[in-house]
Amino acid sequence: MTSAVETLAVALGDLQPRTAVVLGSGLGGLAEALSDRIVVPFAQLPGFPHSGVSGHAGEIVAGRLSGVPVILLSGRVHYYEKGDPAAMRTPLETLKAVGVERVILTNSAGSLMPEIPPGSVMMITDHINWSGMNPLIGEASDARFVGMTSAYDEATMRDARAAAAQSGVELAEGVYMWFSGPSFETPAEIRAARTLGADAVGMSTVPEVILSRFLGLRCAAFSVITNLAAGMTGAELSHGETKEVAPQGGAKLARLLAALFEREKAQ
Ligand code: HPA
Repeated sequence: MTSAVETLAVALGDLQPRTAVVLGSGLGGLAEALSDRIVVPFAQLPGFPHSGVSGHAGEIVAGRLSGVPVILLSGRVHYYEKGDPAAMRTPLETLKAVGVERVILTNSAGSLMPEIPPGSVMMITDHINWSGMNPLIGEASDARFVGMTSAYDEATMRDARAAAAQSGVELAEGVYMWFSGPSFETPAEIRAARTLGADAVGMSTVPEVILSRFLGLRCAAFSVITNLAAGMTGAELSHGETKEVAPQGGAKLARLLAALFEREKAQ
């Protein structure tokens, strides 16, 4: 059987993306902003997951954004689907093997800050993993002791701030706390998260950041805020709301990433 690396490398041809973007729930719209699109369904890539979450397509879309080669992963798998925190290991290893150096992770998240309301885009500057899970558990070599002090790439964050100012996209910043899901948090958990220093909560991204750092990939991450977190409004949370609100913030995020690439191209 042809490996995922071979299949993807052949599909990419002369396109040699250095950056990959993992798309979160309801954020698939970014794929439409790409020119010269190449689509490879996950089903053609051995070891790639089948996400059963509605709002996730399960395909790679490669192309150019602001003229810069990029690979989008539409259809991440979450810990809560199979209980496997390393579910995204093969996709990330495959990206690394075809020459990707940086992964930009995106997600939908609940905000703990009333001043970062639904529809906002928040750049993740750090994270809290109090889940008790880690995708490197069981990894045998000393490489498992990955430093996480500079997990989020300073240079990309600097460029993203400048790109936001340039493109008129308001960009919040904050700490993201990973909850396993799939149930949403309780109001008491949100109060605890706030006490611990979280600004937003979500069910993804943290395992991928850990795996990416393990693989030597630089990381950046952005949340589209789809709701205020549990207990903040009195309303019940739902995945329907996530899917409905995500594209609004997703359009802002697409503009921001286009401006980021434009800026990096000029450097
Ligand atoms: N909690 C966890 N994950 C989420 C939320 C939330 O409030 N909103 C979108 N994804």
